[in-house]
Amino acid sequence: MAHGFLLILLISSIISTNTHACHQFERSPLLSFALTLSSFSLKWTSINCCRWKGITCNHDGWVTELLLPSKGLNDGMFLSSFGNLTHLIYLNLSHNSLYGSLETKVFLSLNRLEILDLSYNLLSGELPFSLLSSRIRTVNLGCSKLQILRAGNNNLSGLLPKDIYNATNLKKLHSLPIHSIDGVLPHHFGKLFKLKLITLDLNYLEGSLPPSLMNCTNLTELHILSNNLEGDVSTFDFSRLSDLTNFDLRANNFTGTLPRSLYSCTSLEVLGLSRNHLEGQIQPDIVSLKSLSFLSLSYNRLTNVTGSMRIMIGCKNLRTLVFARSFKVKAIPYDRTWRILMDFKIFGT
Ligand SMILES: *[C@@H]1O[C@H](CO)[C@@H](O)[C@H](O)[C@H]1NC(C)=O
Ligand SMILES: *[C@@H]1O[C@H](CO)[C@@H](O)[C@H](O)[C@H]1NC(C)=O
Ligand SMILES: *[C@@H]1O[C@H](CO)[C@@H](O)[C@H](O)[C@H]1NC(C)=O
Ligand SMILES: *[C@@H]1O[C@H](CO)[C@@H](O)[C@H](O)[C@H]1NC(C)=O
Ligand SMILES: *[C@@H]1O[C@H](CO)[C@@H](O)[C@H](O)[C@H]1NC(C)=O
Ligand SMILES: *[C@@H]1O[C@H](CO)[C@@H](O)[C@H](O)[C@H]1NC(C)=O
Ligand SMILES: *[C@@H]1O[C@H](CO)[C@@H](O)[C@H](O)[C@H]1NC(C)=O
Ligand SMILES: *[C@@H]1O[C@H](CO)[C@@H](O)[C@H](O)[C@H]1NC(C)=O
Repeated sequence: MAHGFLLILLISSIISTNTHACHQFERSPLLSFALTLSSFSLKWTSINCCRWKGITCNHDGWVTELLLPSKGLNDGMFLSSFGNLTHLIYLNLSHNSLYGSLETKVFLSLNRLEILDLSYNLLSGELPFSLLSSRIRTVNLGCSKLQILRAGNNNLSGLLPKDIYNATNLKKLHSLPIHSIDGVLPHHFGKLFKLKLITLDLNYLEGSLPPSLMNCTNLTELHILSNNLEGDVSTFDFSRLSDLTNFDLRANNFTGTLPRSLYSCTSLEVLGLSRNHLEGQIQPDIVSLKSLSFLSLSYNRLTNVTGSMRIMIGCKNLRTLVFARSFKVKAIPYDRTWRILMDFKIFGT
């Protein structure tokens, strides 16, 4: 009786460890990855790789997460080891010293990948977006599950690949490396309608903003500072972007008047318009931007300085107003409004 009980215990414990035991053909490439690391040891020694630091498995023992940020990893062939991790959902190797280019073939087999973070490494070559998207071509689940794509602070370059726009679950699009992306944002950009954050500052994007961008109604931050974008901003209808808090289009070549529709983005806190070719007047509607705390208008060709200043006194939360050379006139005329405006922190440029 007691023996039988022990046996059951033994069997059930074998079954329960087995459900989490890792698969040999995932273990061995992981091990070879760990061995290539010259300056750092991951101390991955036990039989069950599901117990290794940085690794999470599902109930069937497949590796679903590989999280090794800031581990001093310095491999140049790291991706070649990961081709067998076909159940991987979350891969975070950010803040390491990984180098080399990103292999297409590996991404083809990582067809369950939802989150990829390779930022802050020494990767080089073409932008990995294209590699990820080429994966979708053969895998249906593919890129459409991607939520965050971050390739910042590497030495990658190139165009945003056409097929990135099939990644319809993408929520955040970062491109932290400066001067790495060129080309135009295509007309179907709005297919990424779940995007909350777009950070494409300091690149070589050109052409106009795609009107379909206005379909990204959950957008809270749009950072396109210092690109070569152009076009008449007044033709856009921003009114659907009601969650927009930060909109920074400084240092581009935008023309036209300040779009009135922007005044209905009542969540706006930061609005950067300086260093474009905007003209016309600030409209009284700007006071409906009740949360607006930072407004930068400098280096544009706006008109009616005095009127504009009077209007902006109504922006009760405005703390920083950057307006040097916003207007066509050389000097801002002194009057009563000017004194009231001195309560703001006003910056020259
Ligand atoms: C990868 O998995 C396949 C089976 O799917 C296996 O034949 C191969 O040996 C594995 N590769 C490594 C390096 O373990
Ligand atoms: C990856 O890990 C780093 C460091 O823990 C973290 O800051 C970052 O948010 C992670 N990336 C993603 C996409 O979760
Ligand atoms: C992306 O979507 C377009 C249009 O639906 C399709 O023609 C193309 O094959 C897709 N690309 C990939 C990589 O799935
Ligand atoms: C980045 O890539 C460019 C062009 O390929 C190269 O000239 C430069 O040295 C690279 N920079 C680094 C830090 O690797
Ligand atoms: C927008 O965000 C809300 C709240 O997070 C969410 O319920 C909704 O599905 C999102 N819409 C899109 C198009 O992603
Ligand atoms: C926005 O989305 C709707 C519905 O998907 C579509 O009919 C419309 O063409 C899109 N607008 C733009 C400007 O792409
Ligand atoms: C703006 O356009 C002019 C030519 O029309 C060009 O010389 C200039 O470099 C452009 N500036 C930016 C920031 O794209
Ligand atoms: C300047 O702006 C003020 C306030 O909006 C307006 O009342 C006035 O008519 C404007 N002046 C001109 C010349 O447009």
